[in-house]
Amino acid sequence: MPSPQPIGIYDSGLGGLSVARAIRDALPGERLLYVADSAHVPYGEKTTDYVRRRAETISDYFVERDAKAIVVACNTATAAAIADLRARHPGLIVIGVEPAIKPAAHLTASGVIGVFATTGTLASRKFAALVQREAPEVRILLRPCPEWVALVERGELEGPALRAAVEAPVRELREAGADVLVLGCTHFPFLDAAIRAVAGPSVPLLETGAPVARWLRHQLQERDLQADGGCGALELETTGDPATLARLAGLLLGGDFQAAQTPPAWR
Ligand code: DGL
Repeated sequence: MPSPQPIGIYDSGLGGLSVARAIRDALPGERLLYVADSAHVPYGEKTTDYVRRRAETISDYFVERDAKAIVVACNTATAAAIADLRARHPGLIVIGVEPAIKPAAHLTASGVIGVFATTGTLASRKFAALVQREAPEVRILLRPCPEWVALVERGELEGPALRAAVEAPVRELREAGADVLVLGCTHFPFLDAAIRAVAGPSVPLLETGAPVARWLRHQLQERDLQADGGCGALELETTGDPATLARLAGLLLGGDFQAAQTPPAWR
């Protein structure tokens, strides 16, 4: 039996695994091919052009691998390249992620929301348009957190360095009145517990893994592309070091993983 067409999912590194996890939960029969572009992390501190070129390369690789859908599991790459990718692959389902500004604007009672994301996302025109469209009346406090990305990439999900990195920005936005916090980078759900410890238990921390997975399921259903039965799989590849990816995926998702290196032409 031919192996089913995969769903290609990628991020600069490990963050997109938070989206892959939600997709695996929502679509357990699907074959998922995750590419961590670890040789080029972090995207958040690179130019738009750089991030767009990586998006083109990796999406072309997914086409080469016969993917039926591509999920850009990265807010930074979505802001930089999603329109480009849709134009480049008109026959494919291409789904991106963006910070949960709309639900945050509905949830806030104080009228102030805090957004943690990368420098690239927060500086993008796409993000400015999103805020203008979905939350024109809300005060939005922005906080780029490149060091949070680095912590997740090192697998540092607890300990003093993490607590120190999370404490000041979260406290500052809370004290400025934010009663809803948006995790606008796919790395940040892995720091959920540390952020919650500072923010307090009643503050919603919004991320978009689950809604993106539901949207993907809907798109697959509409085109009659859902895998029929079968047991799903999460295959891991990286442009960096496969042993590191396998180890850290185990830490972040639980379980045992193998990882391979993406072929040279796509690194
Ligand atoms: N995980 C990514 C995002 O959602 C990018 C992190 C980075 O590479 O800077 O924006």
